[in-house]
Amino acid sequence: MREAPIGVFDSGVGGLSVLAEIQRLLPNESLLYVADCGNVPYGEKTPEFIRQRCSVMARFFQQQGAKALVLACNTATVAGVADLRRDYPEWPIVGMEPAVKPAAAATRSGVVGVLATTGTLQSAKFAALLDRFATDVRVITQPCPGLVELIENGDLHSPALRQLLARYVEPLLGAGCDTIILGCTHYPFLKPLLRQMIPDDISLIDTGAAVARQLQRLLAERELLAVEPARDARFWTSADPVHFKDVLPVLWNSPGIVQSFDM
Ligand code: DGL
Repeated sequence: MREAPIGVFDSGVGGLSVLAEIQRLLPNESLLYVADCGNVPYGEKTPEFIRQRCSVMARFFQQQGAKALVLACNTATVAGVADLRRDYPEWPIVGMEPAVKPAAAATRSGVVGVLATTGTLQSAKFAALLDRFATDVRVITQPCPGLVELIENGDLHSPALRQLLARYVEPLLGAGCDTIILGCTHYPFLKPLLRQMIPDDISLIDTGAAVARQLQRLLAERELLAVEPARDARFWTSADPVHFKDVLPVLWNSPGIVQSFDM
């Protein structure tokens, strides 16, 4: 069981930012990744639809013998993680949500910005996060429709992307944010571009590394950390595998096998 793989999924390529953190921290782990590109963006879908997709992913990774499941997607987590934990109480399941707690602790201006999907920002889980951790700070939320679709095409720099991103970031800067939460796993890929657009003293916070540490804790508790070298990562996409193969090298720098996902 120690050498069993870890299942990771997202609506598309965004979760590769989390997969990279997992690989960095846990290099012996064999990784399986499903990009539900046929249904991207989750951010504009209903919570019911996303819950259904989460349960499809869980069934698939159970069939693959995964020893743990990672929802490398904030939007899927707010919609679906509670149901998955109820349905698979014995399975280590790691979800993720925008880093409101660390951002509230880090801000000096008292104003925190959140870039995330519409689905995440509208969720009850996000409202509860704000109630719990952000009572002493001002939080400016900014949904970012359109960004995910560009990143799905491997676009991290185009003028169109830069223009859209500037439109989303300007209100946060205008409000005096000194800390910006990247509350969608696609957005860490935009860090180099963002750094060119915002002053140096503004912090960007995302949760990929924290997810990897949480996974490590859960596996260690159960004595499930792999000891043998990892096998090559395996990828599935619910859209065109040829397109995925083209984009993969932009976002992932290790070998991997790409297959079609039709569940
Ligand atoms: N990468 C996802 C997230 O963390 C979802 C993006 C989307 O499909 O809208 O929220």
